[in-house]
Amino acid sequence: MKSDKIPPIRDVFSSKIGVIAAAAGSAVGLGNIWKFPYITGVYGGAAFLFVYLGFIALIGLPIMLSEFMIGRKSRSNVFGAFKNLAPNSPWKYVGLLGVAAAVMILSFYGVIAGWSIDYIVKSITDSFAAKSPGELESMFFQFIERPILPVFYQLFFMLMTMAIVIVGIKDGIEKYAKILMPLLIVIIIVLDIRAVTLDGAKEGLNFLFHPDFSKLTADGVLSALGHAFFSLSLGMGTLITYGSYIGNQNNLAKTALQVTVADTLIAILAGIAIFPAVFAFGIEPDKGAGLVFITLPNVFQQMPGGFFFSILFFLLLTVAALTSSISILEVVVAYFREELKIKRNLATILATVMISIVGIFCSLSMGLFKEQTLFGLNFFDLLDWISANMLLPLGGLFISLFIGWYWGRKRVEEELAKGSKLSRGLISAFIFVLKFIAPGAIAIVFFNGLGVF
Ligand code: TRP
Repeated sequence: MKSDKIPPIRDVFSSKIGVIAAAAGSAVGLGNIWKFPYITGVYGGAAFLFVYLGFIALIGLPIMLSEFMIGRKSRSNVFGAFKNLAPNSPWKYVGLLGVAAAVMILSFYGVIAGWSIDYIVKSITDSFAAKSPGELESMFFQFIERPILPVFYQLFFMLMTMAIVIVGIKDGIEKYAKILMPLLIVIIIVLDIRAVTLDGAKEGLNFLFHPDFSKLTADGVLSALGHAFFSLSLGMGTLITYGSYIGNQNNLAKTALQVTVADTLIAILAGIAIFPAVFAFGIEPDKGAGLVFITLPNVFQQMPGGFFFSILFFLLLTVAALTSSISILEVVVAYFREELKIKRNLATILATVMISIVGIFCSLSMGLFKEQTLFGLNFFDLLDWISANMLLPLGGLFISLFIGWYWGRKRVEEELAKGSKLSRGLISAFIFVLKFIAPGAIAIVFFNGLGVF
């Protein structure tokens, strides 16, 4: 294990490709493969996709670049970053918000990843065979409502996450991202080829690519924004934390663009793997969170080669979740290390235990504590909703205000001069978006979604 020094001697990613693998690994996760297809289904398909793409390009990309810049300039965890760059000001609480969001997100994230592991096991043991859609549905709900087994898989997943993060940046996070991301891409392409060669695949592609804007609601627009943040890992300092490990020669603007494109492509590839299959077997696409756990097993058991593709799919889901969960855990670990001044080992164990405990309550809120709700949401849904629809957009709002107004053009130019070559026009556009467009759009969508207007 590496010796563990507190800054200024910090970990750095060892290569450009390592930075991209790690950051894209963070971005590509359950958000792309579990959540994107199901919310696209719920909010009507292509219309939602187009709004989502708009948010990604206009708001997501500039905020990703901002996070990288804040991280690299400060060389610090998310709380320390704001404390360094804006001493003696309340900006540091934005960092604290990020740490809180990380704890909340990883708590429920680990639960879903645990379901995914269980579904690898179910696939291998051929448990979907000859089951009716109704039986598959009760199989899913009976499983997630159980008190022990889902918690067991959740903890197993958290241990895998911990095992990678505890080793550090270069030999842990970067190394595994470089192995797991290519694996993920190969699996998703195999699944895509299978899906588009099914009879009746066309209808699914139509659903994904031909927009019907009449289906779009204010709620759908808020979800598109929240999901843009969630999918790109924005708004809580994951990429501030990763940015703090990026070398000064790296072209941050290019990296941000590559990561954004990779994340978006993989979400679309996941949609292409799922919707043609769903439509080919005459299943409704708007089944919500159960889409990949109820609808897909039904698809797999009817599909030629389904046994094999089902194992591959849930393996894909688990791998994608793992490269993301390590990035979320690292936010909390970096914070503990640097603010509590403790070693990486201890910080990692502490963060994992804490998050796993909150996660156990998330898991139990599916069954045992189902009746305990707030605003009609159980604990799991509450954490999901608060973090994705409130904390991340708020975090994004503050990050854009921080760079656009507090930092200002001169410091942006200085930071981008290291490694990036953005034209003056692009820098102006970047600042303009961060000053006005991103905060304005986030505020409107946010309050509208909350029903304020
Ligand atoms: N982006 C990941 C996904 O799509 C999840 C994730 C990792 C995340 N880090 C994050 C979400 C930070 C929000 C904020 O599954």
